[in-house]
Amino acid sequence: MKVVHSFADARSAARYSRDGGGGKIGLVPTMGFLHEGHLSLMAQARRECGVVMMSLYVNPRQFNQSSDFDIYPRSFDRDRQLAAEAGVDVLFAPPTEEVYQPGESIMIEPGAVAASMEGRHRPGHFQGVALVVAKLLAGLGAERAYFGRKDAQQLAMIRQLTHDLCFPIEIVGCPTMREMDGLALSSRNFLIPAEHRETALGISRGLERAGRAVEAGERSADPLRRLVTATPASLEWQYVELADQHDASLLRTLDRPSFLAVAAKVADVRLIDNLFFDRCPDGLKVDRGIRLEAPSLLYQ
Ligand code: PAF
Repeated sequence: MKVVHSFADARSAARYSRDGGGGKIGLVPTMGFLHEGHLSLMAQARRECGVVMMSLYVNPRQFNQSSDFDIYPRSFDRDRQLAAEAGVDVLFAPPTEEVYQPGESIMIEPGAVAASMEGRHRPGHFQGVALVVAKLLAGLGAERAYFGRKDAQQLAMIRQLTHDLCFPIEIVGCPTMREMDGLALSSRNFLIPAEHRETALGISRGLERAGRAVEAGERSADPLRRLVTATPASLEWQYVELADQHDASLLRTLDRPSFLAVAAKVADVRLIDNLFFDRCPDGLKVDRGIRLEAPSLLYQ
């Protein structure tokens, strides 16, 4: 695995690997502190592409609170080892001066797709994600980029960005990975104090109640939202919303491919999670993601 720190070196390393092996270049953008969610994206990229590139950059512009940026977990050596074991060919780990250069003035306003849910609760977050993702997509020359469904609104925003800016790249959405107890994998799980773990599980258990209700025929957003929050755990809910998969607009009725998304705080750690409802021959099916069969490597 080649480790590079500039866009130019990343492009030539990927081109060099491709000339040797052929196939498409697949990009897995990350902010590091890797877990099985990231590894599943790399595994899918490895199956589908000739060259796998991973970017590792904790993007300050997408943190609406600097304290959140400061405590975001980081571990470069561990990430480099995991990426190499996962079969990544090129690891792009730029310093901030490479990503944001003096004299820049272009900003990206993602618009309606970013207005609700995360966009409402984290002002500026999606503008920061859009800018860094646009730089990665334009600057690295990949033909496919892999993102987790766990960040459902981010995925919709990135699809919209790619479409609107005519980037010649295919965006691939991959299933959410969950810990053995159901908690959606996130680098932030590492920050949850042990005594609050049970409280955090109220999120995935709430979603599971709503998922079963959908399977039993419920299609109205309000009862589904109430089922999610009907938990004894003292969670600080920020939102529970049903939204269109395509443009993240809020829905009152589950009548198309959509997702039920939540954000809640547990002991000051902000967590998000969702269930996807996908079209299938019988109507709609629930995508709950994939549960690990062993404890996550986050805790090793
Ligand atoms: O999902 C993430 O980890 C980040 O938002 C991303 C896409 C790497 C951009 O910084």
